[in-house]
Amino acid sequence: MVVKDVLNEAFFREAEAKGERIRLKLKGCLIGERVFWFDETDSTNDLAYNLYKEVGTSGLVVLATRQRKGRGRKGEEWFSPAGGVWLSIALKPIGREKTGLLPLAMGVAVCKVLREKVNVEAEVKWPNDVLINGRKVSGVLVENKFMGEEAECTIIGVGVNLNFERGLLPEFIRGNATTVMDEVGSMVDFVDFTVNLLREIDRFYSLCLSGEISEIMNLYTDFSCLIGKCVEVHGDGVFKGLVQGFNGEGALILIMSGGKVVKIKEGSITKIF
Ligand code: BTN
Repeated sequence: MVVKDVLNEAFFREAEAKGERIRLKLKGCLIGERVFWFDETDSTNDLAYNLYKEVGTSGLVVLATRQRKGRGRKGEEWFSPAGGVWLSIALKPIGREKTGLLPLAMGVAVCKVLREKVNVEAEVKWPNDVLINGRKVSGVLVENKFMGEEAECTIIGVGVNLNFERGLLPEFIRGNATTVMDEVGSMVDFVDFTVNLLREIDRFYSLCLSGEISEIMNLYTDFSCLIGKCVEVHGDGVFKGLVQGFNGEGALILIMSGGKVVKIKEGSITKIF
């Protein structure tokens, strides 16, 4: 699909009209100058990227009621039925040294909204999973796009299992996943939740931009379910050690047996002992 040719078509006009009530509540934010809300798309990350290439508006937001091909980290499928918050934000490049913390900052944004607006004890699990009662309720997929060597844009994709039953998820992920609705026993106002989330994302993105990261680091550490725990991490190798904390580049800091300290920039926690 060539977005340029179809931007004037009813499909896009309708999506932007539907996004208007969210856009109006984001005045003064860096995020949300244009907001498109589609009924269905393959992946909001892909659509946000395509739209950004055409309109070039940093901070444009793409929401979808459902995704046909939602993507998670490591190329995994992300199940995206109606009722969840599936959104992506396209941003102009902010520099390699600042992008490392973005996934952690986005996890903090989700966690903060869940704690403050929904009143649930959400936690972050490095790098950017959000859990309630030990089960995953949200994930973040940050993709940095390049044209050759040059950074083109950053796409931040956030998924929150909000207003649907866990039973809708495929059996193989159901055991480790949950939804906000199942945890609190009622539905949460979708537009309010989404606006609050986008405002927090905007604030933490601005802090990453200006390099004032102490609030992000403190909140991330407070919300983390890993501090002081012994974990196994699959990254650039397999590591086992005690979680000491995180650094401003988004790395996990582990103390290995024998006292050696390692900083792991990319990876996944495979076991918590
Ligand atoms: C993960 O935990 O593996 C990351 C999941 C990210 C899912 C979101 S939903 C909105 C956006 N569009 C996608 O295709 N993926 C992200």
